[in-house]
Amino acid sequence: AYSSEGGAEKKRVQSPFEKVTIFGSGLMGSGIAQVSATYNHSVKLVDLNETALEKSQKYIMSSLKRVAKKKFPESTSDQVKFCEGVISKIQFTTKAEEAASDADLVLEAIVENVEIKRKLVATVDAVAPNSVVFATNTSSLKVGDIFANISEARRPNVGGLHFFNPVPQMKLLEVVKADTTSQETFDKMFNYGLSIGKVCVSCKDTPGFIVNRLLVPYMLEAMRMVERGDATAKDIDSSMKYGAGYPMGPFELADYVGLDTSYFISNGWYTNSELKGNDLVKPPKNLKDLVDAGRFGTKSGAGFYDYTKK
Ligand code: 3HC
Repeated sequence: AYSSEGGAEKKRVQSPFEKVTIFGSGLMGSGIAQVSATYNHSVKLVDLNETALEKSQKYIMSSLKRVAKKKFPESTSDQVKFCEGVISKIQFTTKAEEAASDADLVLEAIVENVEIKRKLVATVDAVAPNSVVFATNTSSLKVGDIFANISEARRPNVGGLHFFNPVPQMKLLEVVKADTTSQETFDKMFNYGLSIGKVCVSCKDTPGFIVNRLLVPYMLEAMRMVERGDATAKDIDSSMKYGAGYPMGPFELADYVGLDTSYFISNGWYTNSELKGNDLVKPPKNLKDLVDAGRFGTKSGAGFYDYTKK
């Protein structure tokens, strides 16, 4: 029963939350802040320093401009009004406690490190209102592990909300029901997703949920094909784009997601998850070599492809 197609505009679902506090102003956190604000939430976006927040503000503004151009092709003044209206609903702040103590939904999109995430959970646990729903945007860790030490009373109020890059464009939201998540919390998270125009699906707390569980082994197998000398990265990318209709081939996608991230996910699953020792998720040597050489993909200028020369 829990899946949706068409999103909020069709279903006109009202969000159960008014105030959304997001931790982590990277690509994901910024995107989540942008869509939450676009659909009328009052947003606080928290990071450790002003530099990160300024970068995020610029990223959100440039993404909003793309959206605005499509929404109001005829009128630059409407475009400006739209962008300014949305950005004014986002408060950029370094004050973690203050932001957590005044929220209906807290969503964390910080670094993929269970210890660092647990520290944030403890901070929020100490100050957030009892009723707060606390969700993680983790893509590879177990939701239950992140919230393992949260106070007993809050256990029913935690879960996963997993977005996809670029957040304003990708329609899917995976809504994760962890072992302790109550039906009420799950329903609230699901309806929040519908209210921000996403197609929502229900997932269990398993490695990679739905999308990454399929996507990661697929990308790794593409890397192994290159290692075996079966085909070149470019030919594999062309094949999946023009033969299977994917918007990006596996190597373009791996470079886009970040090779450091792809390696981190596959190594984490291979060494420390219920997929431990499973060859499907074993990090290929060519991936590790690129990461060791600092080639992280588009964000560092090179990965499987070189983005510095046109
Ligand atoms: N903000 C707003 N809109 C954006 C955007 C952004 N940051 N980036 C792209 N768009 C919009 C464009 O405005 C354009 O809209 P239109 O079609 O309505 O005119 C549309 O997206 C397409 O953009 P472009 O024409 O510039 O470029 P492409 O056609 O090459 O599309 C892409 C870019 C949307 C990234 C597309 O290649 C794609 O869908 N790639 C696959 C992405 C994917 O699989 N993401 C999931 C990765 S896994 C993940 O995120 C999980 C995590 O846990 C690791």
